[in-house]
Amino acid sequence: MTSRSSFLIVANRLPVDRTVGPDGAAAWRRSPGGLVTAIAPVMQRRRGAWLGWHGAADELLEPFRDDGMNLIPVPLTSEEVELYYEGFSNSTLWPLYHDVVVPPMIEREMWESYRTVNERFAEAAAEVAEKGAVVWVQDYQLQLVPAMLRALRPDLRIGFFLHIPFPPIELFWRLPWRRELVEGLLGADLVGFQLPGGAANFRMLCKRLLGLPYKSNEIFLEDRAVTTQSFPISVDFAEFDTLVREPHIVHRAKEIRVELGDPEHVLLGVDRLDYTKGIGQRLEAFGELLRDGSVTPGEAVFVQIATPSRERVEEYRRLRDDIELQVGRINGQYSVLGAQPIQYFHQSYDREELAALYLAADIMMVTPLRDGMNLVAKEYVSCHHDLQGALVLSEFAGAAAELRSAFLVNPYDVEGVKRQMLAAMEASPHEVARRMRTMRRRVATYDVDRWASEFLTALES
Ligand code: ADP
Ligand code: F6P
Repeated sequence: MTSRSSFLIVANRLPVDRTVGPDGAAAWRRSPGGLVTAIAPVMQRRRGAWLGWHGAADELLEPFRDDGMNLIPVPLTSEEVELYYEGFSNSTLWPLYHDVVVPPMIEREMWESYRTVNERFAEAAAEVAEKGAVVWVQDYQLQLVPAMLRALRPDLRIGFFLHIPFPPIELFWRLPWRRELVEGLLGADLVGFQLPGGAANFRMLCKRLLGLPYKSNEIFLEDRAVTTQSFPISVDFAEFDTLVREPHIVHRAKEIRVELGDPEHVLLGVDRLDYTKGIGQRLEAFGELLRDGSVTPGEAVFVQIATPSRERVEEYRRLRDDIELQVGRINGQYSVLGAQPIQYFHQSYDREELAALYLAADIMMVTPLRDGMNLVAKEYVSCHHDLQGALVLSEFAGAAAELRSAFLVNPYDVEGVKRQMLAAMEASPHEVARRMRTMRRRVATYDVDRWASEFLTALES
């Protein structure tokens, strides 16, 4: 029997994934993505428990401790991985909530599985929550959990945070299960979004779909009110800021530049290999700069790190093929002996190597077609106490609302992206420093601790 907790995180994933090596040995590895990056430090500082899937199918595991956190695995069968995780979560909701960048799949058996798995998470949380506990449910994979949990345990204080954008009402309306999803979220006392626009979309939807009145941030149900508010998520600024001052990271950053052939400009992209991230658009822009002779191989190197993600979902497979073809084409066309313009890595890295890469990069390319926030942009800013380094940032990333001094781009406008890339390369050190200083001030003040404490204060008050 698991001991009960007064503070619970409920997320699709645990912060660690169970992996099995070629020799059959099992090991734990940090899970990918922004949710884990943001919540893990919060959890380490609070006593409580984290419920989530451990990344492997058909395996029942006992609760365990890792990196100072109490972790409670919630199992998924291989069919549920296919229908709930790869299916409804990542082939229906993910594209629908990201501006239908690819067409969402609408399939009943995926929905059924989503509901079954949400029920399992709600039951697991109900079992381990102490009386009156605070339960913080995370992200689009678990939107039914708040109402299911409230039905089982009306004594709990339930918060929900959506890490991805909440779509405009016209897109959400397509979902045959729109009513169930909205009612699921309304089980929470507080529903948090990245941006005010997401919260406004949700309030409008509740009014149109369910006829619920709202005033300011509050939606009124028959017997209670639900607060909706934006809380832009952030990063552990101090962790990166400290890390990049360590001599071995400084040394590694210099080494990276030498390994890249000491170019004048190092451009960097770090993303999960996801079609929302605009990787193809930024490579296209870079390819055209090479074609136009605006940059030459050897003078500029583009390092693109594409973390493996959702590899069994068809659209992700196709994307990998497309990107790898594009990289091959550009390199094939523009490389000269000893200088390849794009360095592409389909790999994961530890925090130290990532910090060294950020420090080594003159220009960080963050060009999503739509993104809830984008923590990579904020991590890059956290790493540049030297005030060197320019951020090229999509207007469609949530982070653009805070990082106004970045070189902002519309990723659909290739000419505009090229112009801003050149502007970043040609900017004077004074201008680069001015922009970076403003962005650092914002990320340093509004870090991940502040994000979590503002959410939890609003939830607990
Ligand atoms: P998302 O949540 O959609 O993946 P974010 O930019 O918000 O996007 O968060 C991505 C997180 O994953 C960041 O904390 C980033 O450092 C981390 N990350 C991305 N790529 C890698 C990689 N190759 N190795 C290790 N961490 C990575
Ligand atoms: O931030 C969005 C998100 O889907 C998180 O919920 C998740 O941690 C991350 O991206 C990575 O996705 P996945 O868990 O599907 O690998």
